[in-house]
Amino acid sequence: MPTDTDSTDPQSHAHTASLTSPSTFWHTHAQQLHWSTPYTTPLHHDAATAGWTWFPGGTISATYNLVTRHVLAGNGARTAIIWDSPVTGMKRRITYGELQEEVEVLAEVLRQRGVGRGDRVLVYMPMIPECQIALLAIAHLGAVHTVVFGGFAPAECSKRIDSAEPKLVLTASCGIEGGAGGKRRVTPYLPLVREAIDKSAHKPQATLLWQREEMYQALDKGRGELGWNKLVRSERIPGGGGCVEVGEAFPSEDPQYIIYTSGTTGKPKGVIRTLGGHLVGLSYTAKTLFNLTPSSTIFCASDLGWVVGHSYIHYSPLLLGATTILFEGKPIGTPDASTFWRIVEDYKVDVLSTAPTALRAIHREDPELRGLAAHDTSSLKALFLAGERSEAGIVDLFQRRLWGGYDGSGTIVDNWWSSESGSPMTGVCLGLYPRPPRIKPGSAGRPLPGWDIRIVDDSGKRITEAGKMGNIVLGLPLAPTGFRSLWADEEGALYTKAYKQRFGADLLDTGDAGYIDADGFVNVMSRTDDVINVAAHRFSTGAMEGVVLGHAGIGEAYVVPCPDSLKGHVPFGFLVLEAALQDVDEGVLLKEVNELVRREIGPIAVLGGIVVLTKVPRTRSGKTLRRVMREVLEGVVAGGDGRGVEVPATIDDVTSVESVRAAVVRWWKERGGVVKAKM
Ligand code: COA
Repeated sequence: MPTDTDSTDPQSHAHTASLTSPSTFWHTHAQQLHWSTPYTTPLHHDAATAGWTWFPGGTISATYNLVTRHVLAGNGARTAIIWDSPVTGMKRRITYGELQEEVEVLAEVLRQRGVGRGDRVLVYMPMIPECQIALLAIAHLGAVHTVVFGGFAPAECSKRIDSAEPKLVLTASCGIEGGAGGKRRVTPYLPLVREAIDKSAHKPQATLLWQREEMYQALDKGRGELGWNKLVRSERIPGGGGCVEVGEAFPSEDPQYIIYTSGTTGKPKGVIRTLGGHLVGLSYTAKTLFNLTPSSTIFCASDLGWVVGHSYIHYSPLLLGATTILFEGKPIGTPDASTFWRIVEDYKVDVLSTAPTALRAIHREDPELRGLAAHDTSSLKALFLAGERSEAGIVDLFQRRLWGGYDGSGTIVDNWWSSESGSPMTGVCLGLYPRPPRIKPGSAGRPLPGWDIRIVDDSGKRITEAGKMGNIVLGLPLAPTGFRSLWADEEGALYTKAYKQRFGADLLDTGDAGYIDADGFVNVMSRTDDVINVAAHRFSTGAMEGVVLGHAGIGEAYVVPCPDSLKGHVPFGFLVLEAALQDVDEGVLLKEVNELVRREIGPIAVLGGIVVLTKVPRTRSGKTLRRVMREVLEGVVAGGDGRGVEVPATIDDVTSVESVRAAVVRWWKERGGVVKAKM
């Protein structure tokens, strides 16, 4: 087993080189891209501000590197995007040459509407090729995209509009959801976008709407709504095609996009990804981590609304000139649990990337994995898992079923990262080994080049002892995809508070806790902050509590993560009711609370259960003991009785813990109902 300090191991060697001399290391990899103006230095540290800049002085065109250079190299006929949409029954292939034309046409449409360098464009789109074309067209103009996941409610979208202040909104007439039980739901997007804009103080100049065949939406010109299909039709060059223009280059430090992630305050934080570092880091990981070549096909079964989708559906495969699969469906129910394996067979997929939740869902639906056995998955060389902790059992099961064991013919690669990092921080660099090295199921792999991962105790002191739990922090600078600031964050106050306050200016807090074992494998165990990870999506408990408290009859709300065998965790509410609501029907209360959550955050964040308390465990100074409530819940869900949770000596009323425990036990027995704690 290689260790992190073993200089004969290629990944350790690259990791050490990247931290010893980041400038030299990343300069080598930056040379794989086309720079319109060479940078003056790869990495600059400003002693006065203590800030880092990547590739200052350089200018680069994203679209030239993502599309044009492949066309100019004679690969215009190679497939860039395969759209496979089991929810509509449609499939489409787009070559790099076609993509070039589509991007130029849409960029021209956006340019005519005044979009230029630095302008924000908000994208609220389903998983259709127009979404990728839009991201490229925005980049072509040096504008900044901010994609909002289609499962977010108008209120969440509105927060992002007010923060990013976009000039335009791009959307489609509908999203189409499939899922368990073969349900198919067509959701009109325009009313959601209108409501979001109505709620916002900032008003975008226009909304461009892509009409899908499945639903036509009448546009309101008075609201600045424009038909995207018509605009690109009239813009298209007669008899066009083959028109190759070199994209305009922009400074390396320009923002490429903003992606919002859960904040502890309930207000989403706008993570800024800068242009040059982003492209260099994703070009590097495409080759080194994923081992992609221009002839590879990658199927990243995420959504373009999440960072995983940004990086590995969109940017990384296109940077390499490879083929990416854009999938509009779910791991189950579209139409069944064999869909992923059908796609692997149909398109000879080399690399599949998904979340552990998807594997759990497939396994639950198809325990014998007959769907997998029925398809030829021999093209598959790796299965990447990210977004949440993967349990060893699920990794081992799929490793054995896909490759018959650990003989090196193919491997699962658990990789740990976040919206803030922009690319994986741990994993196995498949491109550095002739055959995949042995993994440790349950661990997230070893640190990747560019990431100085350390474990510290609560006082910030480094823990060097192997296997000892602590806070996972990052030494600076981060690898080039890493964020360095937040959008609309005056003088970096929020950035400092959220990431640097706990352990000092030189260490970045990831909000995760875990340990590094004797072989250098990183094990990410839990969150240390107020974030819940639901089916590989992060939500703020603070934001949820705010929404639940919007219910007139609820006086106090404490939302904690509840372990869930499918989604990893689901939100769970401990509530205290106002006197007027004491006789409420419990089922009605759960429904009402979840209606609020659906309306204010989105259906992806609904609570898995509620317990109504009359006494909340608190310290004598009045601090609510959320940890105690969470641990009681975890104990009961794990099959225990919830006893034995460590209770601080400063607790005000020790009977409150027993009250929580009894209520949770009864809730667990009734599975999902609401139980009132009787005192
Ligand atoms: N637009 C609108 N609604 C959406 C949506 C979208 N893009 N995505 C999800 N929703 C809705 C669903 O329709 C569902 O609504 P409902 O409660 O009214 O039925 C709700 O949000 C919850 O959806 P989801 O979390 O997808 O749960 P599910 O029970 O429908 O499906 C899984 C379960 C496991 C199949 C699904 O969670 C899944 O595919 N998980 C993998 C996630 C993943 O790959 N993440 C990668 C991030 S890196």
